[in-house]
Amino acid sequence: MAQFKAIAAVSKNGVIGKQGDLPWRIPGELKWFKKITMGHIIVMGRKTWDSLPGALPGRENWILSRSNLSSNSCHVFNSFDQIEKEAGDRTIFIIGGGEIYSSFISKCEELYITEVLQFIDGGDVFFPPFKNKFECVEYLEENEQFNLGRWVRKKKKN
Ligand SMILES: NC(=O)c1ccc[n+]([C@@H]2O[C@H](COP(=O)([O-])OP(=O)(O)OC[C@H]3O[C@@H](n4cnc5c(N)ncnc54)[C@H](OP(=O)(O)O)[C@@H]3O)[C@@H](O)[C@H]2O)c1
Repeated sequence: MAQFKAIAAVSKNGVIGKQGDLPWRIPGELKWFKKITMGHIIVMGRKTWDSLPGALPGRENWILSRSNLSSNSCHVFNSFDQIEKEAGDRTIFIIGGGEIYSSFISKCEELYITEVLQFIDGGDVFFPPFKNKFECVEYLEENEQFNLGRWVRKKKKN
């Protein structure tokens, strides 16, 4: 069975996107994103795909879309079921955006959450609530711009 993880950068007021793009440019955060996802399959929604200049190198770019999108640089799937079938037992990183996180966070056992230490006005895409179901087990970096935490799904109590 595939192992699903999600990775996201979230402002202090829960924003992840604004007008089709990230609301910030934080090179140190992007380095972590690259390091954590490199070599893996990344799954994203079509709107996040549209926000990128092209496929992210060194990773299989898998796009979810209900329309007949086609591209030489990515694989397009019409449903998450198709993704699960194709994934086999590999590790899959869900990389956004808001619609995809909200729909599929329930599939994830682990989250890499960068808390961006800013309040963003006018954000239009938000990360879903997760702190009731996940606990932070380590911080990979803490600095004046962001904290990067690794969260794992809380064990169910008997
Ligand atoms: N801060 C972060 O970590 C981060 C990460 C990623 C993205 N973002 C931001 O998030 C924003 C985009 O997020 P969004 O919520 O607007 O869009 P999105 O989740 O990137 O994409 C939504 C699209 O995905 C497709 N889709 C959704 N559910 C599907 C399903 N079950 N089956 C098949 N296709 C499905 C549909 O594409 P079709 O319309 O083609 O059918 C839908 O319009 C941008 O601002 C981006 O910069 C932030």
